[in-house]
Amino acid sequence: MNIDIFTLFPEWFAWLRSQRHVSNVLASGSTIECVNFRDHTPLSGGQVDDTPFGGGAGMVLRVDVLECALRARYGIDPVELRRRRRVIALAPGGRLLDDRLVDELAGESDITLLCGRYEGFDERIIDHFASDVVSIGRYVLSGGEPAAMVICDAVLRKLPGALGHAESAAQESFSVALEGNPEYPHYTRPAEYRGWRVPDVLLSGHHERVESWRGERSRERGRAVPPADAERAGDTRGRDGPLP
Ligand code: 6GU
Repeated sequence: MNIDIFTLFPEWFAWLRSQRHVSNVLASGSTIECVNFRDHTPLSGGQVDDTPFGGGAGMVLRVDVLECALRARYGIDPVELRRRRRVIALAPGGRLLDDRLVDELAGESDITLLCGRYEGFDERIIDHFASDVVSIGRYVLSGGEPAAMVICDAVLRKLPGALGHAESAAQESFSVALEGNPEYPHYTRPAEYRGWRVPDVLLSGHHERVESWRGERSRERGRAVPPADAERAGDTRGRDGPLP
């Protein structure tokens, strides 16, 4: 899988690349490449953003700068580009990232992440260049970079070879194997600590009883923590089908 990240801070992603499960998938042919908007701006002095029309605080990433950066990378009109690959604008109001979306993205061969800064993107970038708008939660970050790292982490660990054991991603929280529920609790040695005992069933050696106990605990947690509802009001900007 190839992930392109458009950002003003490409050097931040060196840390991400050095993380073991990320470096594992990079070693087997996946890529994370960064493009600095500033290297492609047609404006003088490396300008990439501007004050909002109508007034107000903050700066807005310019649509012409985005077009230049995307054209420099892909050599085609960004309006066409978004039909060919997922071009994901990162913004707090977008479609909430959940395991379903992570699986969807892990199934793509190429994705592009656009990191906004300050007040975010000129809306025409969203309307005409992006295929999706994605958010990692209902709070505001100073920029999309941490969200891009969250997406890379969550997506790349789904790929073969990322984790030590092929099974580790299949049975984890929110997976199909757990019917979308959070994971069951784990314990390790010591079997008793300050009087807190590990559940007997886990020490019993009965594989089937262990499995059914885990299933019950997982479903119990699922009832306590309702799944993220991707269809909530205000959460409709993600792409669920082909673009018009
Ligand atoms: Cl994707 N971007 C920004 N700037 N803030 C966020 C976010 C994204 N997701 C949650 N907050």
